[in-house]
Amino acid sequence: MIGVTSDRPPRFTPTWFIDELNYAGRENLDPSHVARYDAKEDASAASEVALLKDLGLTRESLVVEFGAGTGQFTVEVSPACAQLIAVDVSPLMLHQLQAKAKALRLSNIEAVRAGFLTYEHIGSPADFIYSRFALHHLPDFWKAVALDRLHRLIRPGGVLRLWDVVYDFAPSEAEDRIEAWCATGGDAVEGEWSRAELEEHVRDEHSTFSWVLEPMIRRSGFEITDAEHSQDGVFSKYVLRAA
Ligand SMILES: C[S@@+](CC[C@H](N)C(=O)[O-])C[C@H]1O[C@@H](n2cnc3c(N)ncnc32)[C@H](O)[C@@H]1O
Repeated sequence: MIGVTSDRPPRFTPTWFIDELNYAGRENLDPSHVARYDAKEDASAASEVALLKDLGLTRESLVVEFGAGTGQFTVEVSPACAQLIAVDVSPLMLHQLQAKAKALRLSNIEAVRAGFLTYEHIGSPADFIYSRFALHHLPDFWKAVALDRLHRLIRPGGVLRLWDVVYDFAPSEAEDRIEAWCATGGDAVEGEWSRAELEEHVRDEHSTFSWVLEPMIRRSGFEITDAEHSQDGVFSKYVLRAA
């Protein structure tokens, strides 16, 4: 069945808890950005699924994806696993994802409107967790809480594939590195990332340093079995195994 789950009880959160929707990223709640997302961002879904297969993904696996967006990875992994739970806070993104899954007649996808901090996992623990370009939406305190929650819903030995905008450089290099990254942005938002969008990412979202994130990852109970940092120091890809 494909659908936003309505029978999952919303997680009770105290009044000091953040509202993840307020941190979802302005553009992810903007219909025009969501509509053009796939034309400007290629999530390399086929090679990501191939990697997960190398790491043990089978047709029996349960995969939970956080920040699934328009579902590029979701629809690619669906035929390679038993069940895929696609979690995202943005109803617009989930709408795109569901339309894609329906058009492809994929029947093992459950789309859940929730976030890293509010998704309630029911049933068997996940074999794999996948998240690309989403954890940076949370401030660092909440990233650590989110990673701990992910560790609680994955089985021992399960794999978390985490790929995000992560700054792999020293604070003294920050201004030069960030300026160099922003300079790669163009003027247009169609088919590419504009300079204004990259600036917005740095200014308004919560990407952090690798040397802040990696201790959080270990502290939450994951072993970093592979870490790949892009040469410009702006993107990091991790393979993390749950202890
Ligand atoms: C840049 S998009 C990435 C989409 C997709 N993973 C990809 O790689 O193309 C970020 C996604 O994370 C979602 N998101 C933002 N905050 C989130 C949160 N706290 N929990 C789950 N998803 C969140 C946004 O709604 C958006 O769909």
